[in-house]
Amino acid sequence: MISVGIIGGSGYTGKYIVKFCNEHPNINEFDVYANKSAYKNIHDIFPDLVSEIENKTIKNVSELDLSHDVYFFALPHGESLKYIPMLLDNNKKVIDLGADFRLDNKDVFFKTYQINHPAVKYLEEKEYGLAETHKNYYYNLIANPGCYPTAALLSTIPIVKNYFANIQNIVTVSYSGLSGAGKKASPNLLFSENYNSVKAYNVGTHRH
Ligand SMILES: NC(=O)c1ccc[n+]([C@@H]2O[C@H](COP(=O)([O-])OP(=O)(O)OC[C@H]3O[C@@H](n4cnc5c(N)ncnc54)[C@H](OP(=O)(O)O)[C@@H]3O)[C@@H](O)[C@H]2O)c1
Repeated sequence: MISVGIIGGSGYTGKYIVKFCNEHPNINEFDVYANKSAYKNIHDIFPDLVSEIENKTIKNVSELDLSHDVYFFALPHGESLKYIPMLLDNNKKVIDLGADFRLDNKDVFFKTYQINHPAVKYLEEKEYGLAETHKNYYYNLIANPGCYPTAALLSTIPIVKNYFANIQNIVTVSYSGLSGAGKKASPNLLFSENYNSVKAYNVGTHRH
Protein backbone atom coordinates (compact mmCIF):
# COMPACT_ATOMS: atom_id res chain seq x y z
CA MET A 1 0.00 0.00 0.00
CA ILE A 2 1.07 3.56 -0.70
CA SER A 3 1.28 6.62 1.50
CA VAL A 4 0.78 9.94 -0.30
CA GLY A 5 1.51 13.58 0.51
CA ILE A 6 -0.67 16.15 -1.28
CA ILE A 7 0.99 19.54 -1.20
CA GLY A 8 -1.46 22.28 -2.13
CA GLY A 9 -4.32 19.90 -1.33
CA SER A 10 -6.54 22.76 -0.14
CA GLY A 11 -6.64 24.35 -3.61
CA TYR A 12 -8.87 23.76 -6.61
CA THR A 13 -6.51 21.31 -8.29
CA GLY A 14 -5.46 19.74 -5.00
CA LYS A 15 -9.09 19.00 -4.18
CA TYR A 16 -9.28 16.53 -7.07
CA ILE A 17 -6.02 14.87 -6.04
CA VAL A 18 -7.54 14.46 -2.57
CA LYS A 19 -10.66 12.90 -4.08
CA PHE A 20 -8.69 10.54 -6.34
CA CYS A 21 -6.32 9.47 -3.55
CA ASN A 22 -9.24 8.85 -1.23
CA GLU A 23 -10.79 6.49 -3.79
CA HIS A 24 -7.59 4.80 -4.98
CA PRO A 25 -7.45 1.13 -3.94
CA ASN A 26 -3.64 1.12 -3.51
CA ILE A 27 -3.43 4.26 -1.37
CA ASN A 28 -3.97 3.54 2.29
CA GLU A 29 -3.17 6.98 3.71
CA PHE A 30 -2.65 10.54 2.61
CA ASP A 31 -1.79 13.82 4.28
CA VAL A 32 -2.72 17.25 2.95
CA TYR A 33 -0.24 20.14 3.20
CA ALA A 34 -0.94 23.82 2.57
CA ASN A 35 -0.07 27.33 3.62
CA LYS A 36 -2.87 29.60 4.91
CA SER A 37 -5.21 26.63 5.28
CA ALA A 38 -2.77 24.78 7.53
CA TYR A 39 -4.26 23.49 10.82
CA LYS A 40 -7.80 23.82 9.45
CA ASN A 41 -9.95 20.76 8.89
CA ILE A 42 -10.35 19.44 5.38
CA HIS A 43 -14.15 19.38 5.94
CA ASP A 44 -14.12 23.14 6.59
CA ILE A 45 -12.22 23.78 3.36
CA PHE A 46 -14.30 21.37 1.24
CA PRO A 47 -17.74 21.03 2.88
CA ASP A 48 -18.97 19.17 -0.20
CA LEU A 49 -16.56 16.32 0.63
CA VAL A 50 -17.91 15.74 4.16
CA SER A 51 -19.71 12.54 3.24
CA GLU A 52 -16.84 11.29 1.03
CA ILE A 53 -13.68 11.90 3.01
CA GLU A 54 -12.76 11.31 6.62
CA ASN A 55 -12.01 14.60 8.35
CA LYS A 56 -8.33 15.41 8.91
CA THR A 57 -6.24 18.40 9.86
CA ILE A 58 -4.30 20.04 7.06
CA LYS A 59 -0.58 20.20 7.80
CA ASN A 60 1.72 23.13 7.21
CA VAL A 61 4.00 22.68 4.23
CA SER A 62 6.94 23.34 6.59
CA GLU A 63 6.15 19.92 8.14
CA LEU A 64 6.76 18.10 4.88
CA ASP A 65 9.09 15.14 5.45
CA LEU A 66 10.11 11.86 3.85
CA SER A 67 7.36 9.76 5.41
CA HIS A 68 5.36 9.29 2.18
CA ASP A 69 6.05 7.16 -0.88
CA VAL A 70 4.51 9.49 -3.47
CA TYR A 71 4.09 13.28 -3.42
CA PHE A 72 1.60 15.28 -5.48
CA PHE A 73 2.19 19.02 -5.83
CA ALA A 74 -0.43 21.59 -6.87
CA LEU A 75 1.18 24.88 -5.86
CA PRO A 76 1.51 28.27 -7.54
CA HIS A 77 4.56 28.46 -9.79
CA GLY A 78 7.88 28.96 -8.02
CA GLU A 79 6.75 27.07 -4.89
CA SER A 80 7.12 23.38 -5.81
CA LEU A 81 10.75 23.79 -6.75
CA LYS A 82 11.52 24.62 -3.12
CA TYR A 83 10.56 21.07 -2.05
CA ILE A 84 10.74 18.69 -5.01
CA PRO A 85 14.56 18.47 -5.38
CA MET A 86 14.94 17.35 -1.76
CA LEU A 87 12.34 14.60 -2.28
CA LEU A 88 13.97 13.41 -5.51
CA ASP A 89 17.40 13.42 -3.86
CA ASN A 90 15.85 10.95 -1.41
CA ASN A 91 14.47 8.74 -4.18
CA LYS A 92 10.82 9.69 -3.65
CA LYS A 93 8.27 9.71 -6.46
CA VAL A 94 6.81 13.10 -7.32
CA ILE A 95 3.94 14.17 -9.57
CA ASP A 96 3.78 17.92 -10.10
CA LEU A 97 0.60 19.44 -11.49
CA GLY A 98 2.16 22.90 -11.40
CA ALA A 99 4.56 24.59 -13.75
CA ASP A 100 7.95 24.31 -12.04
CA PHE A 101 9.27 21.33 -14.02
CA ARG A 102 7.17 21.42 -17.21
CA LEU A 103 9.70 23.17 -19.41
CA ASP A 104 12.93 21.47 -20.50
CA ASN A 105 15.33 24.37 -20.66
CA LYS A 106 16.57 26.60 -17.85
CA ASP A 107 16.83 29.68 -20.08
CA VAL A 108 13.27 29.30 -21.31
CA PHE A 109 12.21 28.72 -17.70
CA PHE A 110 13.91 31.95 -16.63
CA LYS A 111 12.42 33.90 -19.52
CA THR A 112 8.97 32.57 -18.68
CA TYR A 113 8.98 32.78 -14.87
CA GLN A 114 11.91 35.12 -14.07
CA ILE A 115 13.28 32.49 -11.69
CA ASN A 116 16.70 30.86 -11.86
CA HIS A 117 15.80 27.19 -11.68
CA PRO A 118 17.60 25.60 -8.72
CA ALA A 119 17.45 22.00 -10.00
CA VAL A 120 18.27 22.03 -13.72
CA LYS A 121 19.11 18.30 -13.71
CA TYR A 122 15.55 17.45 -12.69
CA LEU A 123 14.09 20.07 -15.05
CA GLU A 124 15.87 18.34 -17.94
CA GLU A 125 15.30 14.74 -16.85
CA LYS A 126 11.64 14.77 -15.73
CA GLU A 127 8.95 13.04 -17.77
CA TYR A 128 6.21 15.17 -19.26
CA GLY A 129 3.08 13.42 -18.09
CA LEU A 130 0.19 13.72 -20.46
CA ALA A 131 -1.40 10.58 -19.07
CA GLU A 132 -3.60 9.82 -22.08
CA THR A 133 -0.58 9.45 -24.37
CA HIS A 134 2.11 8.37 -21.94
CA LYS A 135 1.46 4.97 -20.42
CA ASN A 136 4.69 4.03 -18.66
CA TYR A 137 6.89 6.22 -16.53
CA TYR A 138 10.52 5.44 -15.78
CA TYR A 139 11.59 8.56 -13.90
CA ASN A 140 10.72 9.64 -10.36
CA LEU A 141 9.45 13.06 -11.43
CA ILE A 142 6.40 13.51 -13.62
CA ALA A 143 5.52 17.07 -14.66
CA ASN A 144 1.96 17.42 -15.87
CA PRO A 145 1.04 19.82 -18.67
CA GLY A 146 -1.10 22.82 -17.82
CA CYS A 147 -4.79 22.98 -18.65
CA TYR A 148 -4.47 24.71 -22.06
CA PRO A 149 -1.73 22.42 -23.42
CA THR A 150 -3.70 19.42 -22.18
CA ALA A 151 -6.81 20.52 -24.08
CA ALA A 152 -4.77 21.50 -27.15
CA LEU A 153 -2.75 18.27 -27.24
CA LEU A 154 -5.66 15.93 -26.63
CA SER A 155 -7.61 17.51 -29.45
CA THR A 156 -4.77 17.87 -31.97
CA ILE A 157 -2.77 14.64 -31.45
CA PRO A 158 -5.37 12.43 -33.23
CA ILE A 159 -5.54 14.91 -36.13
CA VAL A 160 -1.76 15.08 -36.45
CA LYS A 161 -1.45 11.30 -36.29
CA ASN A 162 -4.05 10.71 -38.98
CA TYR A 163 -3.80 13.73 -41.29
CA PHE A 164 -0.23 14.95 -40.86
CA ALA A 165 0.46 15.30 -44.58
CA ASN A 166 -2.57 17.55 -45.05
CA ILE A 167 -1.93 19.93 -42.17
CA GLN A 168 -0.58 23.37 -43.00
CA ASN A 169 -1.16 25.09 -39.68
CA ILE A 170 -2.87 24.45 -36.35
CA VAL A 171 -4.68 27.06 -34.31
CA THR A 172 -6.34 26.25 -31.02
CA VAL A 173 -8.84 28.55 -29.35
CA SER A 174 -9.21 27.83 -25.65
CA TYR A 175 -11.61 29.01 -23.00
CA SER A 176 -11.18 28.50 -19.28
CA GLY A 177 -13.71 28.81 -16.50
CA LEU A 178 -12.88 31.00 -13.53
CA SER A 179 -11.71 28.01 -11.51
CA GLY A 180 -8.74 27.84 -13.90
CA ALA A 181 -7.25 30.77 -11.99
CA GLY A 182 -7.33 28.97 -8.65
CA LYS A 183 -9.04 30.08 -5.47
CA LYS A 184 -7.13 33.28 -4.74
CA ALA A 185 -9.38 36.32 -4.27
CA SER A 186 -9.18 38.92 -7.01
CA PRO A 187 -11.77 41.44 -8.26
CA ASN A 188 -11.36 40.38 -11.88
CA LEU A 189 -12.28 36.83 -10.92
CA LEU A 190 -15.56 37.77 -9.18
CA PHE A 191 -18.69 36.07 -10.45
CA SER A 192 -20.41 39.43 -10.84
CA GLU A 193 -17.55 40.71 -13.00
CA ASN A 194 -17.68 37.72 -15.31
CA TYR A 195 -21.20 36.36 -15.33
CA ASN A 196 -22.60 35.77 -18.82
CA SER A 197 -19.41 36.99 -20.42
CA VAL A 198 -16.12 36.02 -22.01
CA LYS A 199 -12.92 37.99 -22.13
CA ALA A 200 -9.47 37.58 -23.61
CA TYR A 201 -6.58 37.71 -21.16
CA ASN A 202 -2.78 37.65 -21.47
CA VAL A 203 -3.12 37.85 -25.24
CA GLY A 204 0.18 37.02 -26.91
CA THR A 205 1.88 36.41 -23.58
CA HIS A 206 -0.03 33.59 -21.91
CA ARG A 207 2.61 31.29 -20.41
CA HIS A 208 0.87 28.02 -21.16
N1 LIG B 1 -7.08 25.49 -11.47
C1 LIG B 1 -6.91 24.72 -12.54
O1 LIG B 1 -7.86 24.50 -13.32
C2 LIG B 1 -5.57 24.08 -12.83
C3 LIG B 1 -5.50 23.14 -13.84
C4 LIG B 1 -4.28 22.52 -14.12
C5 LIG B 1 -3.15 22.85 -13.37
N2 LIG B 1 -3.23 23.78 -12.40
C6 LIG B 1 -2.01 24.10 -11.66
O2 LIG B 1 -2.13 23.68 -10.31
C7 LIG B 1 -1.39 24.55 -9.47
C8 LIG B 1 -2.33 25.06 -8.38
O3 LIG B 1 -3.36 25.79 -8.98
P1 LIG B 1 -4.79 25.92 -8.31
O4 LIG B 1 -5.65 26.53 -9.35
O5 LIG B 1 -5.22 24.66 -7.67
O6 LIG B 1 -4.47 27.04 -7.18
P2 LIG B 1 -5.25 27.38 -5.83
O7 LIG B 1 -6.67 26.94 -5.91
O8 LIG B 1 -4.98 28.81 -5.57
O9 LIG B 1 -4.51 26.49 -4.73
C9 LIG B 1 -3.16 26.72 -4.43
C10 LIG B 1 -2.71 25.74 -3.35
O10 LIG B 1 -1.35 26.02 -3.05
C11 LIG B 1 -1.21 26.34 -1.66
N3 LIG B 1 -0.22 27.41 -1.53
C12 LIG B 1 -0.27 28.68 -2.03
N4 LIG B 1 0.87 29.35 -1.73
C13 LIG B 1 1.64 28.48 -1.04
C14 LIG B 1 2.92 28.56 -0.45
N5 LIG B 1 3.65 29.69 -0.50
N6 LIG B 1 3.40 27.48 0.21
C15 LIG B 1 2.68 26.34 0.28
N7 LIG B 1 1.46 26.19 -0.24
C16 LIG B 1 0.95 27.25 -0.90
C17 LIG B 1 -2.57 26.84 -1.24
O11 LIG B 1 -2.66 26.67 0.16
P3 LIG B 1 -3.62 27.61 1.08
O12 LIG B 1 -5.02 27.13 0.85
O13 LIG B 1 -3.15 27.32 2.45
O14 LIG B 1 -3.37 29.02 0.63
C18 LIG B 1 -3.47 25.89 -2.03
O15 LIG B 1 -3.54 24.63 -1.41
C19 LIG B 1 -0.86 25.69 -10.36
O16 LIG B 1 0.48 25.44 -10.66
C20 LIG B 1 -1.72 25.59 -11.60
O17 LIG B 1 -1.01 26.01 -12.75
C21 LIG B 1 -4.42 24.39 -12.10
